[in-house]
Amino acid sequence: MRKYKDCSLQAFVLLVISFAVGCAQNKPRQRPSPKPNEFSSAQQVFQPKWTPHAVRAPHAMVVSDEALASQAGIEILKKGGNAVDAAVAVGFALAVVEPAAGNIGGGGFMLIHLANGQSKFIDYREEAPLKATRNMYLDKNGNIIPGASTLGYLSIGVPGTVAGLSLAAKDFGKLTLAEDMAPAIRLAKDGFTVSPYLARSFHAAKRLGDFPESKKIFLKNGAFYSAGDTFKQPLLASTLESIAKDGPQAFYRGQIAKDLTAQMARHSGLITMQDLADYQVKIRRPLTRAYSARGARWTIITSPPPSSGGVAILEMLNILQPYHLTSWNDPKSVHLVIEAMRRAFADRAAYLGDSDFTHVPIRGLLNPRYAAERRASIDPTKATPSSQIGAGNPAPFDQLRGALAPPIQKLNTEEAEALLANESQHTHTTHFSVVDAQGNAVSNTYTLNDLYGSGVTTPDGFLLNDEMDDFTSAPGKPNMFGLLQSAANAIAPGHRPLSSMVPTIVLRDGKLSLVTGSPGGPRIISATFLDILNWAWLGMGAQQSDNAPRFHQQWMPDLVFVEPTFPSAVEQQLEQDGYKFAPRRMWIGNVEAVAIDPKTGERLGTPDARRGGVARGY
Ligand code: DON
Repeated sequence: MRKYKDCSLQAFVLLVISFAVGCAQNKPRQRPSPKPNEFSSAQQVFQPKWTPHAVRAPHAMVVSDEALASQAGIEILKKGGNAVDAAVAVGFALAVVEPAAGNIGGGGFMLIHLANGQSKFIDYREEAPLKATRNMYLDKNGNIIPGASTLGYLSIGVPGTVAGLSLAAKDFGKLTLAEDMAPAIRLAKDGFTVSPYLARSFHAAKRLGDFPESKKIFLKNGAFYSAGDTFKQPLLASTLESIAKDGPQAFYRGQIAKDLTAQMARHSGLITMQDLADYQVKIRRPLTRAYSARGARWTIITSPPPSSGGVAILEMLNILQPYHLTSWNDPKSVHLVIEAMRRAFADRAAYLGDSDFTHVPIRGLLNPRYAAERRASIDPTKATPSSQIGAGNPAPFDQLRGALAPPIQKLNTEEAEALLANESQHTHTTHFSVVDAQGNAVSNTYTLNDLYGSGVTTPDGFLLNDEMDDFTSAPGKPNMFGLLQSAANAIAPGHRPLSSMVPTIVLRDGKLSLVTGSPGGPRIISATFLDILNWAWLGMGAQQSDNAPRFHQQWMPDLVFVEPTFPSAVEQQLEQDGYKFAPRRMWIGNVEAVAIDPKTGERLGTPDARRGGVARGY
């Protein structure tokens, strides 16, 4: 694999970034003293090793959080698999080597863009079990029971990953599921060397200690694994082997399902054999809109509900359409983007949910005239307080007429700020991108939701999600990401919780240009959005787009979150314009992306240094 200079400008940008980091480090509020044994503290000391250059390869590229997973993708491509086969291989491999986020007990979204121009969105999001009820996380006074939706058996949604990856392989791959799964099975059986990153992550995973199966697997005779140890997962290996042999029915109807549901029954969990047997992957039409910028036509192919991310990204692009954004060193450009974020997140809170069961006014929200209305409320010179910006009223632009706009929700800002501050550094979702030699592309984000999900490991050696927290436990109460949501996202049997995950693919003048996405709770939307703006609107180089300082505003709490590399001068200017910044800086998202060099067609793998991602190409 060869590395070339991505763009000479990048060296300069890196210098600027290093300088910004230097400045940022002088600011006392950015580095509170770490509490021992907390993952968040381990993450605070994590210093990304920035690389200025994308990894270039003439044919194919796989970018993921883990070298072993990226390598699994390449192995499958070289065996004759296409991008979908490689993505399936990476998905199963991450379930072995990145257990905090990679999974077979969670769910996610896969966006496929085929070289023939077709795009498919595979929704394998978890579902609420049939026994789930709207107020299941509330006590008799209507208050949320702490931890009920985020830890243990009651927090688990019906997993979709095995069904999703299997369907992707069957419908869009060239190899068999067993062939795609071979690298993962090998990694689980033979073991792999624990990286410093994984060792830190185990240390942080306090919730694993509460569950005997988790303890048995993720601790080494009661002690933490250290970097350099070999980590083998024989139970997981045999689970993967039965899936490879018998297909997804092994998981949804066979012994794995029986073991999982027996465990649920023992611990008052809700998932039954019927829930598993009923689980269906949904193939949806992606959301697609085209925009002009820098003399090119950019088509954004992105995620529909139950992702909120695609609607938010397109709404923000619509709002920003008439403006000329220059760079993130320009307070005016940052101001406009923050105001677009604020409005899109306010609409997210009010209108987004599982569109199979609730009317999501996508057409209205994405109507250019609706964007013009939202834009008209932006003050060109100063911040608009979130308390003055509720959801807009897309009804006149939607097929549904009538009063859709709900009142501004109340928010206990302190509670939301505290939740966000704690959650912010966690790393429990993972995104990967693949492009093959034919030009097929896959953008996949999947998750257990919280770090190591619910903390529960099944007797068959895999962790289960706590995705139920993504539903609205109670309108007006923030979830673990400080997100407010409405009755549109209420808990009901068979419904899918609203997600921020937003795998996205961008075409330039009709040709594949960028495959992107991110983890990070609500910051997923901002990180992915900024990657698109950096690459397509601002014309940054591929790696520069990934490295550039990120910022995030989610309407409520009314705070701007910025990275340690965000220019301090811009922050100061924006403070004068009425913005309030989060009490400490944080890394935002982790974009493992692939771009295409428009001149040479080369694949540009851009691993995200924030989590130490790895690009492999040939
Ligand atoms: O689907 C969602 O929006 C969340 N469950 C994602 C969680 C997440 O990204 C956590 N962290 N990195």
